[in-house]
Amino acid sequence: MLVLGIESSCDETGVALYDTADGGVLQAHALHSQVRMHEDYGGVVPELASRDHIRRLVPLFRRVLAESGRARHEIDAVAYTQGPGLAGALLVGAAFAEALATALDVPSVAIHHLEGHLLSPLLAHPPPSFPFVALLVSGGHSQLMRVGGVGDYVLLGETLDDAAGEAFDKTAKLLGLGYPGGPALAALAERGRPGRIRLPRPMLRSDDLDFSFSGLKTAVVTRVRELATLDDQQRADIACAFQEAIVEVLVSKALRAVELSGLRRLVVAGGVGANRHLRCCLDAAAAAAGVAVFYPALEFCTDNGAMIALAGALRLQAGLNGRTPGAFAVRPRWPLTE
Ligand code: KG4
Ligand code: ZN
Repeated sequence: MLVLGIESSCDETGVALYDTADGGVLQAHALHSQVRMHEDYGGVVPELASRDHIRRLVPLFRRVLAESGRARHEIDAVAYTQGPGLAGALLVGAAFAEALATALDVPSVAIHHLEGHLLSPLLAHPPPSFPFVALLVSGGHSQLMRVGGVGDYVLLGETLDDAAGEAFDKTAKLLGLGYPGGPALAALAERGRPGRIRLPRPMLRSDDLDFSFSGLKTAVVTRVRELATLDDQQRADIACAFQEAIVEVLVSKALRAVELSGLRRLVVAGGVGANRHLRCCLDAAAAAAGVAVFYPALEFCTDNGAMIALAGALRLQAGLNGRTPGAFAVRPRWPLTE
């Protein structure tokens, strides 16, 4: 079964072709990031995002077909991100996917964006087997989930305020770094001196598996204010302290979740999963606890079409596609547990 995947929930247009034959093979994938376009505004401008998805989708689709060497009529299903995300941006992908599915007379599959992230480590060979605990850390979400199988997701804990990626982005902004700030802050943190600045570890010792990151951002604001002028080294020290604090909380809660669930597998997904310090600390802590950790390839941590194509293929294989052809709506707000 050849599945086309379309992602357009925010500021990345992703298109991919995934074939379930031979144990599952990603045939081709292409991505256009709008980061440059939104940079001048310090964040995503929804209207510009929608217009750009319109411009990019068809050329990316043609590119993926050409690179895979497959023909349009070979496509067996079209999967797309239905939500959560920016309504206008989602509508572009949904309209394209539904129109294509109708024209080809194949099923369409509406995918939850977070399900795409959750399943993205399954693009690796060999993939982790179910069940596992997933640490999902993106720009919009920070959640711990028990994943029993495709469509079987139990929320174990989540952020009470900012998402991990959002905390990275906001702190980066405070330090005068561009948008999106996560990767830039991580790069600056590498030059910081560990232990120079001490920041709180919010909810590290709380009895639950929830997170809270807005206090950490406030602590950074306070430190920045205390230091009347910030030189490069001080900025790097703050970035380093912030990254250490957030990573320590994520690692501690993720391993706690694994322990409480009685499972031995942890999967990391979402943009913050690309963070090197997080991977390094998690690997060390998991090894000590005898837990196996799986990450998607770096290019599949952030938004992409491959995870949507994969999620679509897995849903179809599991008989979990309850769609009415031709009737579609996007869901800008959509808890995964619904
Ligand atoms: O999963 P994603 O592409 O989009 C959402 O679904 O939200 O995640 C994007 C987020 C942004 O907040 C970005 O700053 C963060 O992931 N991010 C990182 C790194 N790479 C991306 N944060 C920390 N370190 C990184 N290396
Ligand atoms: Zn995402």
